[in-house]
Amino acid sequence: MATEVEGVVSQHFDMLNHLVWRKPSGRHNGCCKESLRRYFPQTEHILFAESRKPVPFAYDAILSYLEGERLKAGISRKAIDKACGCQMSGHWFGRSQFSFPSEQHYNTMNALFGYTLKPYLELQGEYRYIREQSNKARRTFNVTKHTPYTNVWDFKAVAFYEGKHPCEKPLDLMEHIITASSMPGDLVLDTFVGSGSTALACMKTGRRFVGCEMGESEFDGAVVRIENNM
Ligand SMILES: C[S@@+](CC[C@H](N)C(=O)[O-])C[C@H]1O[C@@H](n2cnc3c(N)ncnc32)[C@H](O)[C@@H]1O
Repeated sequence: MATEVEGVVSQHFDMLNHLVWRKPSGRHNGCCKESLRRYFPQTEHILFAESRKPVPFAYDAILSYLEGERLKAGISRKAIDKACGCQMSGHWFGRSQFSFPSEQHYNTMNALFGYTLKPYLELQGEYRYIREQSNKARRTFNVTKHTPYTNVWDFKAVAFYEGKHPCEKPLDLMEHIITASSMPGDLVLDTFVGSGSTALACMKTGRRFVGCEMGESEFDGAVVRIENNM
C-alpha cells in the first residue's frame, strides 16, 4: 500500500506530495460492478519527496541592503511596524523567517527613510532572481501549464501487448517525472527497472541512467523490447 511506503519514506525524506495517477481506461471499465465488494482501483500512487538537507539562507544581499538603509536613516523596527500598521519588520529585517515586503509596505518604509531606497521593482527583481537561482540549486522543479502541475495526473495506461511487463509505466508519465525533477545530463536512479520505461525516458530526455532489476529472465520479452527501442 502506498500509505505504508509513505510511512517509511517519510522517516528519511520530507514528503512533498502524494500524487494520484488516474487511468482513463483499464479494467475498471469492464469489471462486473454488481459483484464488487469494495471500490475498484483506477489509480496508482506516486510519492514525491525531497532530501532533508538544511536550506542555506539566500537573501543576505537583500537583507543587508534593507538593514543598511534602515540604520543609515536611524529608524527603529518598531517605528516601521507602526507606520506600516503590522508586525512584519522581524520578517523584513531578520534571517529566521525572512519575507520580501509588499510594494505598499516598501513605499511606506521608503517615505520613513527619506526616500533613499531603490525603486520597488528593481529590488523585487533582484529578490526574484535570487529566489529562482536558489530554488534551482536546491531542487529542480520544472512544470508548466501544459504539463500536470496538480496532485492528480491523467495518463493512459500501457495497452496490452505480447510480453508486456505487468507493471509497465507509460513513457509519457515517466518523461514528465524526469523532466519535472531533473536537468539534461543529470543522473537518474531506478532500483526497480521492470520493463525499462525509466531508462527509455532518460534516453529520450538526455538524462543519464543507472538501474537494478532482479527479474530480468522473468520479463525477458519486455527487456528486449526496450533494447530494440535503443
Ligand atoms: C513495479 S515493477 C517496475 C515497473 C517499471 N517501473 C516499469 O515501468 O516497467 C517493479 C520491478 O522491480 C523488480 N524488483 C522487485 N524487488 C527488487 C529488488 N529488491 N531488486 C531489484 N529489482 C527488484 C521486480 O522484478 C519488478 O520488475
